[in-house]
Parts: sequence; structure tokens; C-alpha cells
Amino acid sequence: MPKLLSVVGARPQFVKLGPLARVVTQHSPAIEHIVVHTGQHYDPALSDVFFAELDLPRPDANLGVGSGSHGRQTGRMLALLEDLLIRARPDIVLTYGDTNSTLAAALVAAKLHIPVAHIEAGVRSFNRRMPEEVNRLVADHVSDLLLAPTPAAVANLDKEGLADRTVLTGDLMYDAVLAHRRRAAADTPLVCRLGLREGDYGLVTIHRAENTDDPDRLVSVLTALNAVVEQYLPLVFPVHPRTRRRIDALGTRWRPHPQLRLADPVGYLDTLALVRGARLVLTDSGGLQKEAFFLDRPVVTLREETEWVETVQWGGNIVAGVQPGAVLAAVAEWSRRLPSGRADFSAAARAAFGDGRAAERILTALLDFLNRRG
Ligand code: UD1
Repeated sequence: MPKLLSVVGARPQFVKLGPLARVVTQHSPAIEHIVVHTGQHYDPALSDVFFAELDLPRPDANLGVGSGSHGRQTGRMLALLEDLLIRARPDIVLTYGDTNSTLAAALVAAKLHIPVAHIEAGVRSFNRRMPEEVNRLVADHVSDLLLAPTPAAVANLDKEGLADRTVLTGDLMYDAVLAHRRRAAADTPLVCRLGLREGDYGLVTIHRAENTDDPDRLVSVLTALNAVVEQYLPLVFPVHPRTRRRIDALGTRWRPHPQLRLADPVGYLDTLALVRGARLVLTDSGGLQKEAFFLDRPVVTLREETEWVETVQWGGNIVAGVQPGAVLAAVAEWSRRLPSGRADFSAAARAAFGDGRAAERILTALLDFLNRRG
């Protein structure tokens, strides 16, 4: 009986685990699936809510690593995962995306000579100042099976000499959006509680270290948001705990415009509902860029580059950076090109991100890999 072991720890990984765990469960008890939560995200709003809404399997273990500098957090994961993998001896370790939990799982398994499969392999921003880029590069190069979400990711892996370990699978986040979008109506309790009217607001998220940890850059992006509210439309902004602390630390350097609504972090279904109701999404999140694309809403990316180049190539995303003038120009561009905020990217999404059956393809690739090894 094949024994798979998934390591997850942060919000986007819980979302990706959902479709795969469902498909694997359909093969239970013929396939064993152990789920390990590193504890990187521990606030109920960043963790428990995803397990409940997405009906995820209860983790078999939670390592409780909590927050810390990259070195400390990753170091704690390495030590605890090593002990756990020695005891569990899975046939293959599955690691997802680009977080510190991804890096730790890939490194530990590779050193123990346990095969590693990296889900969402080959994605590149080509900006090594992002911790996520370092995590992805290392995870890809130590993994035995590279499960690439898009043809662009396959091409990146090919350029790095990794083509023979690569399988194109489609994107698990697309599977998840297709599975859950009906449950996330634009009139869910949260949308109503915030007093938002469909099509009348924009959705904002900011959590990347590159945007939050430099006060000048944070002030720049927050100033841009106030200007968007002043000139275009109200914004709702569910705030990641890290961002909240950094905003508080700015003191009097920035005050939100009254029509910029700061809210607590929201779960998966509320996020999809907020995207569906929005006219525009402004974000530095990779996942949210894709979710907006899958739900036909235009995006302004608050970074200098994106790894999800397909969303730009297919006309759904303007990469603006964080200077107020550039952000305003991008919002102006969307107001002109798409005044209703409603697009139809479905054909483009299918062309780039698969057909909503990435989980099946990933499982097939995993079983083929294990069969080949005997
Ligand atoms: C992590 C990932 C990022 C991913 C994001 C999704 C890394 C390097 N980054 O970023 O790729 O897009 O998750 O949300 O792995 N905090 C809490 N409660 C929590 C967790 C964190 O308050 O449950 C606060 C702490 O102050 C912590 C900070 O958020 O220091 C940052 O948390 P961390 O786990 O380092 O990464 P994220 O910023 O969430």
C-alpha cells in the first residue's frame, strides 16, 4: 500500500491540499495519506478556518513551530520533521508551493533519501530577494518529482535542466476554485456585514515581506490605496497579522481613508466571495492573483514582477509596483478597459492552468513514479 505524506503549514498550502486529499481519500484504504501541519500558521483565522471550510483531513501531527526569523522557523521545522519522517517512513513526501514549510519538508526528505514530490514546481519570479523564490528553487532542485502547474513552469524547469523529473499537471488552486465557487456567493454574511454592494468596491491584500517590512515601501503602498479610494472606489482590506503589526508601527505616518475598510483576515470561502463581488483586486499575493483570474476579476499586482505570468499574458493582470502614480495608472487602465469589472477569462484559465483535474493528474504521476521505483 503506497504511503504518501503531505507537509503543509500556511494558508495557500491548505487550499492546495484540499483537492488532492479528496482524490486520495477516494482510493482509501488502498493509499495511505499522512498529513503533517508544521504550525507555521497557527491563528485560527489563518489555519483552522481552512480545515473546516475545505473539509480537510485533520492533520496526523502538528509540529507547532510558530513564527520566527527564517532561520529559526525553518530550523525548528527541520529538526521536528526529521524525527517524524524517520518514524513514519513514507514512500514519498509531498511538499506544496513556496513557503518555509515547503523548503523544510523538501530538504529533510532529500537528506533522509525519501523521495520528494514538489507540487507547484517550476514557478519563478526571478527575484531572489523574495524568500519564496529561494524556497522554490531549493525545493525544485532537491525533489525527485516536479509537478508543474503550467506550461510556463515546465519551460522554467527545462531551462534549469530538470525536464526529466517534470510532469505537467495543472494547478490545484484552479481545482479548488472550480469546486468551491458556487459556495462562495457574492452575498455571503461577511460581504453583507461589511455593507458592500456587488461591483462597487475593490479588494486589497498585502502580506509579502518585501512590502510590509520596509516602512517607506509600506507607506508608499498604503498611500496608493488611499489615493485609489479618493479617486475611484471604496476598498476592503482584510489585514494579515504581520501587516497589521507593521501598520500599527507606522503610528501617525499613515491613516486609512474612511472608505478604506480594514478587516480581520478572512477564510477561503469569504475570500472567494469578496473576489466575486469586487470590481477590482489589488494584491501582492500569488494565490489571489490566480483566484481573481479564475473568477473573472481584473487584478493590479502590487509588486514589481509576478510569477503568474499567464495572468498578464492573457490580459487579466497589470503589474504596477507600489508607487502611488503607477497604482493609480493601473486602476485607471482597468476602469477604461473593463468599467464593469467583469471579464471572461475562462478559456485562458483552462489553457494555462489545466481543466480542474490537477489532483487526479498529480495522483497518477505519484503512483507512476512509485511503480517505476518498484
Ligand atoms: C507565509 C509564506 C508566504 C505565503 C503566506 C500565506 C514564507 C516565507 N512565507 O507568509 O509565501 O504567501 O504564508 O499567508 O513561508 N503570524 C501570526 N499568526 C500566524 C502566522 C503568522 O500572527 O498564524 C504573523 C507573525 O508575526 C509572523 C508573521 O505573521 O512573524 C509572518 O508569518 P510567516 O509564517 O513568517 O509568513 P507569512 O508572512 O504568513
